[in-house]
Amino acid sequence: MWKIHNKLLIYLLWIMEIRLVSSFTSAMLCGRIPGLTQAQRQLCSEMPDALIALGEGQQLGAHECQHQFRGHRWNCSEVWQRNVFAHVIPIASREAAYTYAIASAGAAYAVTAACARGNISMCGCDVRHKTSPPEPWKWGGCSADVEFGMRYTRKFMDARELERDSRTLMNLHNNRVGRTLVKKLLRTDCKCHGVSGSCVMKTCWKSLPPFRLVGEKLMQKYHKAKTVQAVRGKRGLRLVLSRKKHIMAAAQKPALVWPKRLELVFLEASPNYCERSIQTGTLGTGGRPCSRSGHGPQSCDLLCCGRGHNTQHIRRSRQCRCQFHWCCQVECEMCDESYEEFTCK
Ligand SMILES: *[C@@H]1O[C@H](CO)[C@@H](O)[C@H](O)[C@H]1NC(C)=O
Ligand SMILES: *[C@@H]1O[C@H](CO)[C@@H](O)[C@H](O)[C@H]1NC(C)=O
Repeated sequence: MWKIHNKLLIYLLWIMEIRLVSSFTSAMLCGRIPGLTQAQRQLCSEMPDALIALGEGQQLGAHECQHQFRGHRWNCSEVWQRNVFAHVIPIASREAAYTYAIASAGAAYAVTAACARGNISMCGCDVRHKTSPPEPWKWGGCSADVEFGMRYTRKFMDARELERDSRTLMNLHNNRVGRTLVKKLLRTDCKCHGVSGSCVMKTCWKSLPPFRLVGEKLMQKYHKAKTVQAVRGKRGLRLVLSRKKHIMAAAQKPALVWPKRLELVFLEASPNYCERSIQTGTLGTGGRPCSRSGHGPQSCDLLCCGRGHNTQHIRRSRQCRCQFHWCCQVECEMCDESYEEFTCK
């Protein structure tokens, strides 16, 4: 497992490096990057300009993951830190599932967007949307070429997963959920033509949704993620839904059920993320700000794992009751204000 994640790390470092050495020829560049698999090296030299987009996608995924998990015990910050050994999600948990899916969605999204901007020489707009449907509208403008984005992302991200074990299958599955979701969330935008917007004729094109929507949808999938296990069949190792529930439901020999294509899957239960642990790669929640009211993940009850919280009384003076005097002065009074801040013990 460490091996996989070290690869992820090297890949990140390398994306950063690419920005610095963009003047290198692609062959030299791709040769210099450590830790790339053979397939990745090949992709790199075929399309160096797509790598910049991949780097942007990684950022996009990182920010969105942190946004969605802000205030949770596990808040997605360790994963993306530049700090070398904090990078790891060694446990094949629900959180790992989300992380892989959002990273892959970010990559597919950024590559697709870069194509539409004309930043990647091998792609552009999706011309398959050129054949016009019946009036009163037609395809026009630049439709996002999400197929290219997905294909490139799949080749590149999946090329990281070389081991043939259950964790690899999990990562590959969740990678696919992420990039497929981007395609599923494509929107159709239209523009009206005709005298004063009478809309006699419309031009429509496919466009990317805000990435926030991808993050939210994946969050719903995170909550509904399924436990899976690997079984060896005729065609090698495959993931099936874990049996416990099925056995209880129907006391007969349970049928093997594959996870759905757009379902996030995980192999192991999550740790509670309460304590700092190098083994699980978590920082613990000590010192985290929490809210004393409410029941959400950010409530002191949940976030502090029952250890209780510290209360800090804070007093400060700030400007208040400001008045505007003609002309041109603002006069304020100083008010003392006090409030409390709560942090987990
Ligand atoms: C991408 O394209 C935009 C506009 O065409 C340009 O301003 C920008 O510098 C390009 N970015 C990269 C990384 O090539
Ligand atoms: C995320 O959690 C870590 C460790 O608990 C904490 O140090 C960090 O400040 C948190 N980040 C945010 C944005 O809340």
